[in-house]
Amino acid sequence: MENREQWGSRAGFIMAAIGSAIGLGNIWRFPATAYENGGGAFFVPYLFALLTAGIPLLILEFTIGHKHRGSAPLSWARFSKKTEWIGWWQVAIAFVISTYYAVIVAWAISYTVFSFNLNWGKNPTNFLVSDYLKVANPGEIGSLVPGVLIPLIVVWIVVLGILFKGVKKGIEIANKFFIPILVIMFAIIVIRAVTLDGAAQGLTAFFEPHWDKILDGKVWVAAYGQIFFSLSIAFAIMITYSSYLPKKSDITNNAFITGFANSGFELLSGIGVFAVLGFMAVQQGISVPELAKEGVGGVGLAFMVFPKIINEFPGFNQFFGILFFLSLIFAGLSSLISICETYISALQDKFKISRNKAVWFGGGLSAIISLLFATKGGLNFLDVVDYFINQFGVALAGLVEVIVISWILRQLDPLKKHANAISDIRIGGWWKICLGVITPIVLGYMMFDLIRQNIK
Ligand code: PHE
Ligand code: NA
Repeated sequence: MENREQWGSRAGFIMAAIGSAIGLGNIWRFPATAYENGGGAFFVPYLFALLTAGIPLLILEFTIGHKHRGSAPLSWARFSKKTEWIGWWQVAIAFVISTYYAVIVAWAISYTVFSFNLNWGKNPTNFLVSDYLKVANPGEIGSLVPGVLIPLIVVWIVVLGILFKGVKKGIEIANKFFIPILVIMFAIIVIRAVTLDGAAQGLTAFFEPHWDKILDGKVWVAAYGQIFFSLSIAFAIMITYSSYLPKKSDITNNAFITGFANSGFELLSGIGVFAVLGFMAVQQGISVPELAKEGVGGVGLAFMVFPKIINEFPGFNQFFGILFFLSLIFAGLSSLISICETYISALQDKFKISRNKAVWFGGGLSAIISLLFATKGGLNFLDVVDYFINQFGVALAGLVEVIVISWILRQLDPLKKHANAISDIRIGGWWKICLGVITPIVLGYMMFDLIRQNIK
């Protein structure tokens, strides 16, 4: 416990936390989610979720990690031996995510290379499915696709290489490098995007508020889901990262900075994505809603729609292609590092092994399993696993976390005291109401709704 690694600086921790938060969820999940759930009106449930669940939970997880100085399982065990399993469960979710998140980063590496010659040709959808992922022939499901395998190996070498170096010399330095560059690259893309022909149409479609949606339970579920995934909450990550904080750390302030930085990036990304969609709609002579019918999020947005847009860019096509896919790589890598660190830390704490052994064992296992998604047909696998993790993993783990802390262990008061003793911003009764009442009710409703839908 005394020899636990530490961040070298406050900025280092904040960069790492922001690096974990800012990921594919910001770039390809938020714009589509907001658009499909009320456009401008989505910001009401979204901000509500951020302020009553996102930031309060960040404060909670930062406090738990800081106070208990352990990986997620150890931190939960320090409340009570009986709750150690919650930490392992969260780590297990993180482990599963790491196996396929790595594959998506690998695709982004390939597409960065493809950008140099716009290799995806005139029909990027076909290219992705048949030429790159080779999912076309059902007869050959299962064999490895070399085009994915090679970048995937690169991803693991980079990620594990950083993790071998440890918290201060590895994770911290990597994030201090990745995040500023990511923000600059992304800002260049967005500035170019909003000056494109048709950008105004795209932004109008994105921000136009559909107020009738605001009473729809599904929209609230979407807002909470987005906040949880986007802030990396309930995956053991923020507990792990904050366990490396020095004794004197302004936890509450750090949580606000992380939460707002992540949402700021999300907003930026919504603007950028819809500005280019507006451009594309104008090119094709259709309206943005018509264009958006085909889906404007996820794998489709990044690897089918974007290559198409890059084809039609009015100059510097290759440059913007490279910039976009490099952004995906940087955003993805910094999140992937944080996911892997959860189980590396947990293995070290539990089995008293060295960091190197934990990286070899945990990271190695994840790397091997990730090969599954680099096979012909792996894309379908990835979709299914991602769906279940997002729907059930996140909401349920979050729900269990808030209920156990507030109502079973009754730890809100001691944790509040701990946070207030070291933070500038003081949290009070409002924080307790958010975590003890509002969040359990909303998440409980979410789970109920999900189960009902899946039974139907
Ligand atoms: N928060 C990251 C994002 O927005 C995703 C992530 C999920 C990171 C789970 C770590 C763990 O993309
Ligand atoms: Na995010």
